Amino acid sequence: MSTLQVRVWRGGPQGGDFHPYQVPRRASQSVLDVVTHIQRMLDPSLAYRFACRVGMCGSCAMTVNGVARWTCRTHVDKVCADGRLELAPLANLPVIRDLVTDMSEFFDKWTRARGRFQGRRGRHDDFERVAPDSPARKQVDAAIECIGCAVCYSSCDVVAWTPGYLGPAALNRAWTLQRDVRDAAQAERLRAVAGDAGCHACHTQLSCTERCPKRISPTSGIAGLKRDALAAALKGEL
Ligand code: SF4
Ligand code: SF4
Ligand code: FES
Repeated sequence: MSTLQVRVWRGGPQGGDFHPYQVPRRASQSVLDVVTHIQRMLDPSLAYRFACRVGMCGSCAMTVNGVARWTCRTHVDKVCADGRLELAPLANLPVIRDLVTDMSEFFDKWTRARGRFQGRRGRHDDFERVAPDSPARKQVDAAIECIGCAVCYSSCDVVAWTPGYLGPAALNRAWTLQRDVRDAAQAERLRAVAGDAGCHACHTQLSCTERCPKRISPTSGIAGLKRDALAAALKGEL
């Protein structure tokens, strides 16, 4: 059996460094399997986060050989041809300990982008129906499967340069609601995402879209928000 040479960032908010570990290489091994082996067999003090192990919860994302990825569905064979792995916490987020980042600001930005559905109907009303083949619903479909992993946020240079920037995930969420014909807060949401920290700050560098493990294109949604904001501004509504 061959061995992986793994370097894992250990530390906290004040700083840290990489520690070396040797992990047995196995068939169909995920990066999360490697981290779990280290924590269970070599160093129980290692802090990391995961829940579902099947690509649904979004909690296992880390920086793997310099690139943000979900680790439960990243096979070692795909990212580490030379037997070396370097694991670090996600960039653009404060570190709590080791591989665990503080996601508060990431999700606070969803709130700032009005990322919450606001319906018009009450509990006694009939359901509002949306035709599955309508253009608006298809646009929502293309963007709705976000798992909140922050891989896009961690990969975005504009977030790094401009910490107030709402970022690709919050803006993608806002976009899905702007195309939800049942939502009643679209004017308010457009104002929230059209400011300096919103869609116009995006430089369309596409890192978010290239890295999103769910194959969502936040860049497209952000471009849609820019178009909506321009249309609203021309009508004097912004
Ligand atoms: S396309 Fe925009 S949101 Fe996505 S990574 Fe680039 S600057 Fe960030
Ligand atoms: S848009 Fe993609 S990369 Fe960004 S949080 Fe959602 S699933 Fe993760
Ligand atoms: S552990 Fe849930 S997405 Fe990886």
